[in-house]
Amino acid sequence: MSGGIAAYKAVEVCRRLVDAGAHVSPVLTRAATRFVGELTFSALASEPARTSLWGNDEPIPHTRLGQGADLVVVAPATARLIGAYAAGISSDLLTATLLATRAPVLLAPAMHTEMWEHPAVVDNIATLRRRGVHLVGPDAGRLAGGDLGYGRLAAPEAIVDAATALLAPSRNDTRGLQALVTAGGTREPIDAVRYIGNRSSGKQGHAIASELASRGADVLLVTASELPGPPGVEVERVETAAEMHAAVTRAAAERDLVVMSAAVADFRPKVTVAGKLKKADGVPEVILEQTPDILAELGATRRPGQILVGFAAEALGPGAQPEERLREFAEGKLRAKRADLIVANDVSAPGVGFAHDTNAVLIVTADGYHVPVPLADKGAIAAAVVDAALAYGSRRSSPPGR
Ligand code: CTP
Repeated sequence: MSGGIAAYKAVEVCRRLVDAGAHVSPVLTRAATRFVGELTFSALASEPARTSLWGNDEPIPHTRLGQGADLVVVAPATARLIGAYAAGISSDLLTATLLATRAPVLLAPAMHTEMWEHPAVVDNIATLRRRGVHLVGPDAGRLAGGDLGYGRLAAPEAIVDAATALLAPSRNDTRGLQALVTAGGTREPIDAVRYIGNRSSGKQGHAIASELASRGADVLLVTASELPGPPGVEVERVETAAEMHAAVTRAAAERDLVVMSAAVADFRPKVTVAGKLKKADGVPEVILEQTPDILAELGATRRPGQILVGFAAEALGPGAQPEERLREFAEGKLRAKRADLIVANDVSAPGVGFAHDTNAVLIVTADGYHVPVPLADKGAIAAAVVDAALAYGSRRSSPPGR
């Protein structure tokens, strides 16, 4: 709990978590104790409330709390707490615990609308989200002092539901699987400052790596995106198609599943000019050459049993029967690259593909299945891709009729 008027609702959150079977260790900032009594939490929770790094019966309470937790819930999370956490400043037991944990963190912000909308808070929230911190609320409604607006603490049951979802046991159905995922768009240098790139953000590939890791797989992510690596995933950063080719070639043989979701450049400048091309020297002629097709190479050389998933980004535009055309393109790529699955999307459709948080795909498989996945966030699409790859693998290892 950090110090806001909504701290009184944390009593209800604590009680509900204990009722749901959680072991709850309450930590209050000093300001929180001005709104709600430490004794209330000591009485309701699974152990006495703590309010300070000092004067405890243990010398370093934040590491025990941080390392021992399966989930850290901050409700309410004030603008100050959010700012300190985003900046990595540990000035009290709560912020020290947040920095000392590798468990998922769920923040339930509560503050006045003006504060919630302040650019500093907006930036801090964006930073924390990027690092994988989870948020619940805030809601719109009545605020302290009778004001109405955004910034009200989420309802206690919503906070507990969000906490429960984060603690739900993972399916573990990819445990022991060695996976390689590629993501992002490669950049092919023209000179020391310019490159040819594409609009891939890497979000879909990072979501697939994250999904595989959360379900138990051992994941190497080779990424050309600047997004942070998902928790539990080994990350190798590359920039060009050549670097991606080298990294994938090194790692692929060992892997049971390879997902090529990167948008690898098809063409690159034949020569990279050292230094910077100057305007005064006139309009340069950039000669392109083809890059190696990594997926096709993997398809031609892979070991038996390895599952190979490719992507097909198509821009169908307006026209009749987009689903059929998308399927034809996907099946063409499936054959040409000898992949097992192709995940195709029409990046010209609204909400689909590059830089969006949502996607809609059609998954086609080498044994003739078509799985359309309607518009959903990229996490849900990632789950559908992993499901389809696992289902394909089990069909292949036990064909019907045998
Ligand atoms: N791919 C690859 N190496 C390349 C280009 C693409 O491994 N040099 C992979 C991508 O990671 C993706 C798949 O191939 O999994 C499809 O890429 P895409 O560019 O859509 O297909 P292309 O075969 O290049 O066909 P086209 O550009 O003509 O649509």
